[in-house]
Amino acid sequence: MTELIPKPRSVVAGSGEVRLTAHSQIYAGTAAEGVGHWLCAVLRQATGLPLREGRELDDTGGDGIGLQIDSELAPEEYRLVSDSTGVLIEGGSAAGVFWGAQALRQLLGPDAYRRAPLGRDRAWAVPYVTIEDSPRFRWRGLMLDVARHFMPKDGVLRYLDLMAAHKLNVFHFHLTDDQGWRLEIERYPKLTEIGSWRARTKFGHRASPLWEEKPHGGYYTRDDIREIVAYAAERHISVVPEIDIPGHSQAAIAAYPELGNTDVIDTTSLTVWDTWGISKNVLAPTDNTLRFYEGVLEEVLDLFPADAGEFSSFVHIGGDECLKDQWRRSPTAQQRIEALGLGDEDELQSWFIRHFDNWLTARGRRLIGWDEILQGGLAPGAAVSSWRGYDGGITAARTGHDVVMCPEQQVYLDHRQHDGADEPVPIGYVRTLEDVYRFEPVPPELTPEEARHVLGAQVNVWTEVMEDPARVDYQTFPRLAAFAEVAWSSLPAPAERDFADFEHRMTAHYGRLDALGVAYRPPAGPRPWQRRPGVLGRPIDGPPPIV
Ligand code: ACM
Repeated sequence: MTELIPKPRSVVAGSGEVRLTAHSQIYAGTAAEGVGHWLCAVLRQATGLPLREGRELDDTGGDGIGLQIDSELAPEEYRLVSDSTGVLIEGGSAAGVFWGAQALRQLLGPDAYRRAPLGRDRAWAVPYVTIEDSPRFRWRGLMLDVARHFMPKDGVLRYLDLMAAHKLNVFHFHLTDDQGWRLEIERYPKLTEIGSWRARTKFGHRASPLWEEKPHGGYYTRDDIREIVAYAAERHISVVPEIDIPGHSQAAIAAYPELGNTDVIDTTSLTVWDTWGISKNVLAPTDNTLRFYEGVLEEVLDLFPADAGEFSSFVHIGGDECLKDQWRRSPTAQQRIEALGLGDEDELQSWFIRHFDNWLTARGRRLIGWDEILQGGLAPGAAVSSWRGYDGGITAARTGHDVVMCPEQQVYLDHRQHDGADEPVPIGYVRTLEDVYRFEPVPPELTPEEARHVLGAQVNVWTEVMEDPARVDYQTFPRLAAFAEVAWSSLPAPAERDFADFEHRMTAHYGRLDALGVAYRPPAGPRPWQRRPGVLGRPIDGPPPIV
């Protein structure tokens, strides 16, 4: 039962077990009460046991599960001891206690992940064990693209639970793109009235001839967002919203045509994009656009408060893949370049980003963007998501910027996980479970001092070819489990990692994923209904793997 994922720093097994019974109690000390509520709720559901909740173990008998802060431990560190006196989880902060509680759930067996007891007469037991554990990286992230295909709110809450079960703590919420705007903004209602849906959708890679001929859409209301942020905070997950500028903005331009380059094209004829790729329709570099997005961000700052989690002060502004074609042809953009004394359109993009960098910094927030934002210089507090490989991250770390490593060659989970013909709509690189297990977030080029700027790593789940939550599960799992171990555990260098041991522990973990209802890719390949015969992906020996 100690086949834990991610692998703890130290596990010493004892002999014996703590039985959970109708008399068992969960008692939580100061600052650990929230974890106590969470643990009581999930274990009552799974076990059907009443599990009394309190502040201290009372003397009415029955084994207890204690949750406490031990300020000698690092904030996310925990110690779990199960012995003849019961179970005690101590953490350096509530987050540490929470990660310990996640380990406890794994110790109880896969049915601890179910939402109701199975009705069999069974014993619930925690084996005697001492676990000491702490994360390698502070930022252990998952980016979910809800713009290409919308993930209804319940699916987002479910993903937060799945992240928590894997000790991941940053949810990068990709809320806007060419194909949809998913966040209700009170002062600009057309962003969701118009921008949140499209009439039809390309089915498969953009070269596919197939269309899903039905409307696709959806958005989160402001209360949905408040709920998501609070739900994440209860699970010690920070939500980092992404509002993509100045590229990937066609849905916003379709809603408010004045945001586009009106002196180049008739932006009133634009619709929310229904196919994939990089749209040429980017924001116009005008004062109107700046004021508009300041208005959007004011509401974003209100909906995503800075104190909701360790990384909640971050706001992601995208900054990737801004095609410059329209700016080259736009007299307005050219006048702006001249008036600002800029060298070219690339510098105009930097000016755009720097504007919001200053704007966010003045409000006590931190900007993070894709590695293209490095071009042109950044304010000291800005951070970079290194996606086009390690280079952006290396440059950022060397120039004193914090980095999240998420290179597309390694941890883009939209990319195929096998080279077989049965993979559904295969795109990108072949990145197997083992490849992800051997992903190393810190490139060897960095000195230890520079490497301190690597806050951590994240996987990115782009959803162009994931039309529903089951497809998202298939691409994300089991690879998320391998990533979680990379981000949490202090593994040796990639070539020395014991993948056989990880695979062995995965046999237990598949049981947990089954109980959680995760539609993962089985080791033997996709189930019949997980295939997409006839839907075009991108050949392996084709051009560079852009979706
Ligand atoms: C990206 O994949 N365009 C960040």
